[in-house]
Amino acid sequence: MAKPLNIGMIGYGFMGRAHSNGYHRVNDFFDLPYRPVLKAACARDKDKVKAFADTWGYESTETDWRKLIERKDIDAIDICTPNNTHYEIALAAAAAGKMILCEKPLSMNAPEGLKMAEAVEKAKVPNMVWYNYRRVPAVTMAKNLVAEGRLGKIFHYRANFLQDWTISADLPQGGAALWRLDVNAAGSGVSGDLLAHCIDTALWINGGIHNLSAMTETFVKERKHQLTGKMEKVGIDDACTFMCRFDNGSLGLFESTRYARGHKALYTFEVNGEQASVKWDLHDLHRLQYFDHRDEGQLRGWRSIHVTDSDHPYMGKWWVPGLQIGYEHSFVHQVADFIEGLGTGKPAQPDFRNAYETQLVLDAILDSAKSGQWVDIAK
Ligand SMILES: NC(=O)c1ccc[n+]([C@@H]2O[C@H](COP(=O)([O-])OP(=O)(O)OC[C@H]3O[C@@H](n4cnc5c(N)ncnc54)[C@H](O)[C@@H]3O)[C@@H](O)[C@H]2O)c1
Repeated sequence: MAKPLNIGMIGYGFMGRAHSNGYHRVNDFFDLPYRPVLKAACARDKDKVKAFADTWGYESTETDWRKLIERKDIDAIDICTPNNTHYEIALAAAAAGKMILCEKPLSMNAPEGLKMAEAVEKAKVPNMVWYNYRRVPAVTMAKNLVAEGRLGKIFHYRANFLQDWTISADLPQGGAALWRLDVNAAGSGVSGDLLAHCIDTALWINGGIHNLSAMTETFVKERKHQLTGKMEKVGIDDACTFMCRFDNGSLGLFESTRYARGHKALYTFEVNGEQASVKWDLHDLHRLQYFDHRDEGQLRGWRSIHVTDSDHPYMGKWWVPGLQIGYEHSFVHQVADFIEGLGTGKPAQPDFRNAYETQLVLDAILDSAKSGQWVDIAK
């Protein structure tokens, strides 16, 4: 019989919903030592958080996250709020001995991220960061193929994350729904919001980055701020491109933007090795493209693998071979892995320490874009 794991959720937006769905579904499909109980939801607006709690089945609500953290009946704090709140909430939650599941990017910058990692380590509380794309079965499979050495020596890693929703200069910045455009709430633009995912996946699949050279651009320099009503300077990067050298000697190329007309959330990556290559596309997330040079010459070509068989990662827990799953399942898998880690004592990754590695790369990107110089990643 699974023991209860009492969740205190902070934030009821996009991620508040995605995580709540993960908590609801996980024990229906995975055999786990704990069962998440949606104990309390917290956000500043009393009526809105009550409506969210009613929809998703939370037992109670709070409007001050400090009160939530003080509660004895909460085991784990889930941070689903804008980036500038992660640090303060995580430090308080660690001091109160709560487990912490924090949304990405871990922090506004690397020094903050380091303090967060140190705080959870000192408090010895289980912790995890929601880099959920690791848990898309086709992405997990790409990681496994590289780790098994099937690609041989890796030469290239390239990734894109392209969107088009901020092209209009009339779009305001700041406040509800638009905090991502306000540097004081987000910390950075597409680098921390989108490239953070690409970097996490890359570090996981291809290992550490040695150094990089980046450029960023802010195409719309001023936007009206939703909270002040005034035109204010835009401090985020609207677009970011960087090239890098990985510790294993391979070369990396990364691009993200919110100005690629026609693209809504085109996250793609490709890894080229001496023997084989893999590539993946979020818009076709249940497929992994694989090319193996060792195949017989006349039949050699890209295979489009439908990652739905029971021997594919996570898929044995779902339907029958051939039936695919989607975006929301990556969060179900992440909850499952977190809980399994609680049971085995082998924590699910990325934990805060691991996600701090991504923060170091993100800081190096902004440093390089500012100085125009190559920057070594601090180790
Ligand atoms: N893993 C992913 O793929 C993914 C996707 C989207 C967002 N995110 C991350 O999740 C976090 C939240 O993003 P989102 O898209 O859900 O945002 P959102 O704007 O949809 O929701 C943010 C929520 O935080 C609440 N909030 C803000 N300040 C608060 C405070 N001081 N106290 C309590 N509640 C507060 C808001 O009321 C809202 O409910 C961000 O860090 C973001 O980078 C991750």
